[in-house]
Amino acid sequence: MSWVDRLRARETDFRRAPSAHNTQPWTLDYRADEIVIGTDPARALPGSDPHGRDLALGLGAFTEACLIVAADAGLSVGCDLRDRRRIRLVPAANRYVTPFTAADVAARRVARGAYTSGKVVVESVPGLDAGLVHVPSRALARDLAAADRWLFGTAAPARELREWLRLNPADPRYHQDGLTDRALGLNRFEARVLGGALRAYPMMSRLGGPALLAASGRGLLRYDGSVWVLTAREADPRQAGRRLLRTWLTLARHGLAAHPLSQLIDCPATAARLAGRVGAVPLAVFRVGRPVREPVRSARLAPSAPGSPR
Ligand SMILES: Cc1cc2nc3c(=O)[nH]c(=O)nc-3n(C[C@H](O)[C@H](O)[C@H](O)COP(=O)(O)O)c2cc1C
Repeated sequence: MSWVDRLRARETDFRRAPSAHNTQPWTLDYRADEIVIGTDPARALPGSDPHGRDLALGLGAFTEACLIVAADAGLSVGCDLRDRRRIRLVPAANRYVTPFTAADVAARRVARGAYTSGKVVVESVPGLDAGLVHVPSRALARDLAAADRWLFGTAAPARELREWLRLNPADPRYHQDGLTDRALGLNRFEARVLGGALRAYPMMSRLGGPALLAASGRGLLRYDGSVWVLTAREADPRQAGRRLLRTWLTLARHGLAAHPLSQLIDCPATAARLAGRVGAVPLAVFRVGRPVREPVRSARLAPSAPGSPR
């Protein structure tokens, strides 16, 4: 069996990589001696990710997951990022050196519920890459409310959110992709309100819906907690995506979880304030802490069957 086939047999493992709105936009072209990772335009988020920042981060995180799973399988695989549009997994002289395993990749998940009180400063977590900045959660509470109002009040991101929400367990896509009511921590009533409000767009926007929807996240940062900002250090944001996954896996090793709050950098006004606060370009921003409850496991598309294009 070639290394390509052996890694392909582990596709379910590296598909646990995170992606914005859980779109899983990666395409995989399994060739004789390389695997080409591209993206599916039908799974892009042009409205909420107009500059492709999240797409690049997601691709980088996916690549890191592939390298970790390959190393775990005893395969010597590296990645070639010279082409801006695709990433190639190629044979390497040595196994990728990483402290993480396929089990770490599989266990990682976003935790959107409550965290126990207490700050987590970057210096208290050993093994992290550079480029992370701590901000006390309360300092961003007002900006999060503003960013949420922007998110729910701006047509294109609101439409994409509606498209990728999976609020009904009877939806055939419920176990495949997108953001489920459970993953978002919504009860049935909240799920109905959110679904109805987004369906009623743009009328709900004129009736003050964005402010009402944004109110539901108002308490999220009003506690003695921490937000971390991953800042740009590399010319290629896909390298930052690799760093993002390593950060989340390192946190998990210490019993800590992450909850991205990308709206803070999607909304132009709050993005500018955050950049000023951290003195760098913010690429990802997430709450960090110890979850009170076990986070939900998100859905994934089935791996591609050998012989079928992806
Ligand atoms: C670049 C990027 C941005 C993300 N932004 C958000 C976000 O703003 N809010 C959120 O709740 N989750 C965000 N996520 C997390 C995804 O929604 C999550 O990875 C996906 O739903 C799969 O869930 P899992 O990571 O728990 O497996 C982001 C993930 C990535 C890679």
